Amino acid sequence: MKKIILTGDRPTGRLHLGHYVGSLRRRVELQNSGEFDDIFVMIADAQALTDNADNPEKVRQNVIEVALDYLSVGLDPEKTTIFIQTQVPELCELAFYYMNLVSVSRVQRNPTVKTEIKMRNFEQSIPVGFFCYPVSQASDITAFKATTVPVGEDQAPMIELTREIVNRFNHIYGPTLVEPEILLPSNAACMRLPGTDGKAKMSKSLGNCIYLSDSSKEVKKKVNSMYTDPEHLTIDSPGHLEGNCPFIYLDAFSCDEHFERYLPDYKNLQELKDHYTRGGVGDGTVKKLLYNVIEEELVPIRERRKMYEQNIPLVYEILRQGSEKARETAAKTLDEVRNAMKINYFGDAALIEEQAARYRSGK
Ligand code: TRP
Repeated sequence: MKKIILTGDRPTGRLHLGHYVGSLRRRVELQNSGEFDDIFVMIADAQALTDNADNPEKVRQNVIEVALDYLSVGLDPEKTTIFIQTQVPELCELAFYYMNLVSVSRVQRNPTVKTEIKMRNFEQSIPVGFFCYPVSQASDITAFKATTVPVGEDQAPMIELTREIVNRFNHIYGPTLVEPEILLPSNAACMRLPGTDGKAKMSKSLGNCIYLSDSSKEVKKKVNSMYTDPEHLTIDSPGHLEGNCPFIYLDAFSCDEHFERYLPDYKNLQELKDHYTRGGVGDGTVKKLLYNVIEEELVPIRERRKMYEQNIPLVYEILRQGSEKARETAAKTLDEVRNAMKINYFGDAALIEEQAARYRSGK
């Protein structure tokens, strides 16, 4: 069986380090691993509209921001099909069929949807489209026969629902769809990178993000103002690692070579952590290391972004070609789905003959 990846993001803001360690970095590795027959990365503008119906302009602006972020982290349009969800209308059609295979209470139990309903104050009045987005996500995944969906843990309920829909569909209509597997980030710190305030995960509304498009100056400022350990009052006092942002970020970003380059007094992160907990390491030292480590990662990303920013029509052309290819792929699956559901009235000669025979025999 072919190995196919599908994943994507809602274009509601620029992408940040949380996205980077949680998914983008992995996608580039997967892209370059040569292990996959096809990789689709989708800008989920239709899904973004499910909770931004009154602000389409925000979605429209962020389609290009996210595209720039994708290209600048190293997604290569030669190897990865980058496309825009609304440009593949087959996805809506498929979602409409899937809606019959899912109960309202099943969606209501989805913990991610529950949290989002609270966060968006939708308790009083949930938009139907928003409520159905997990179903639409199942169509995004299955339209491409994706076997592998690299996403953060908050997306696990969507993949679970997708698997249920696939099973249900195949059971009712015959084997047609492929059951996808989730691929979670490998390192715990990457699963849920906290914001610079140490509180929740990075989120635009909390203003605690470091963006991929931030300048060196902005990164320095944000790293220096990170939440550490409020009890670590002097360099010599013992420090705590729990909830200490710079250390959590180092868990996600650093490797032994970084110590050689930027802080050769220590062999690796464990040595630095041990010294910090004993007392004797200032937060400034840790932050300076972290700044260097983040910058090393962001410099090439920033450079590529600058190049693409100077050629926006090319970026749209990449998206157009990607969307065309995505549409061809989804259309093939939709043909199979319609055949399986026997709603391909005009293209299925056997079906027409079956009906003709029925009426000939007078039944
Ligand atoms: N729900 C994802 C997000 O919030 C975006 C998304 C839409 C997606 N369809 C998808 C992710 C299919 C993976 C697979 O960013």
